[in-house]
Order: sequence, then structure tokens, then C-alpha cells
Amino acid sequence: MSLYAIGDLHLHFSSTLRAKNQLSDPLWKNHEKRFQENCRNLLSEEDTLVLVGDHSWGKNLTECEADFDYIRRLPGRKILTRGNHDMFWDAGKTKLLNELYGPELCFLQDSYETYGEYALIASKGFTFEGPFYLNQKREIIAYEKETFEHARKLVDREARRLVKSFEAAKADGYERTILFLHYPPTNILEEESVFTEIAERYNAEQVIYAHCHGKSRFHDSIEGDFKGRTYHLVSGDYLSWIPLKILD
Ligand SMILES: [Fe+2]
Ligand SMILES: [Fe+2]
Repeated sequence: MSLYAIGDLHLHFSSTLRAKNQLSDPLWKNHEKRFQENCRNLLSEEDTLVLVGDHSWGKNLTECEADFDYIRRLPGRKILTRGNHDMFWDAGKTKLLNELYGPELCFLQDSYETYGEYALIASKGFTFEGPFYLNQKREIIAYEKETFEHARKLVDREARRLVKSFEAAKADGYERTILFLHYPPTNILEEESVFTEIAERYNAEQVIYAHCHGKSRFHDSIEGDFKGRTYHLVSGDYLSWIPLKILD
């Protein structure tokens, strides 16, 4: 029995919206087929797969149906978390999604799921991605204030959600946790953030995130060991569509 994670499937079996890069970049060529084969080779029905956001380009549930079918057919238990492109999923809709598609698909938000003695905590997170104006030493000399203020509100909201979920897991006696974010825990200029601080406060053993696409973005945030926890980027193109084993 193992726990795996990967993000950013960006499926579009029946959606009208598609990303140009996804259609032309070799990293994405036949990615649905490659990912399906990798899952079938790697995972068994006893395993758990956490899909870390950006599941579908579908603008509504009708446009997502074929994508959900594809995910449903992957082996093992499937837990989905929210990404910025998941237009079908307002946080307030989570209960409805679980009623419609559970128990085969589990939509995790404002709560926690369990894996053995671990609580799995997830939220989209948020990082201010600019525009930044930098000097030659890569120090910020200015940024777009309005966008920054907006980002700060989103970050605060996501942080509150995470604290609530961690507290719920703690109240139920779960001491070991793993944190799943869709956005990277820090932006390219930050060394720490409210998300790294929350991971430390609640002693999350691993922080898993996705969202970063293309070779130039793969190293935007923390990877490997940092202040006692391990950080992993799991966007699908980064992993060449092979889910990453998080726990045995
Ligand atoms: Fe994505
Ligand atoms: Fe994303």
C-alpha cells in the first residue's frame, strides 16, 4: 500500500478550452495515454493517488464528465485537491461534488483525509507571481501594488482554510500530517511564506505542490529538505507523468 501524488493533468476530453503549450510542447505529447500507462504499471487498487489540482480545462461539470471518467478508471483510491484552473470547483461546491462523484472520487477541501496514521491536508494555496520589477541583484524595486494587495487577501484566506483543516485533524488525534498545495509554497523571490510557516507550526512532514509548468518554472520554489520537512514539486510535466511515491 503506497501513497502517490501528481498534479496538473489538465485534461480536455470534452472541453472547448485548451492551452496552446499543452498542444505543442513535447513534454505534453499524448500525456493522457502516458500517464494512464504509468499509473497502471505503478499503482495497485490498494494504493492512494492524490491529484494536486488543475484536473480539467472544463468550464463546468458537463465539460468535465469525460475527464472525471478518465480519472475514475485509474487504479486505486483517488483524492482530488483544488487548482487555479478548476473552474468547476468553487470551494462551496465541495460537498456537492462528493455527493455526485463519491466515493470513487474524493474532493478534498476544508477538511482532511486519512492515510494510515497520517492526515492529508490540502488547499489551493496562493503565491503572488508578479509582475515584479527587479534590479540586477534580483531585489524587488517595485511591484504592482493592486495585484499584490489582492494576492495578500487570497493568501490570508487560504492560510485560514489550512489552519482550520490542521486543527480538525489535530482535534481528532492525528499528529502526523502531509500538506498538499496546488501553488508553490513560496514565490520565486520568497525564501519562506505563511505556507512554510503553517507547515512548520503543524509539523507537516512533507509539503507537496504543483502548478509550475515548463523547464523554466520547475525550480521556482523550495525543493528537498527545508527546516525539517521535505518539499516536492509534482506537476505532471515535471514528473514526466510518473506519479511520485510519497509514503509506503
Ligand atoms: Fe497547471
Ligand atoms: Fe495551476
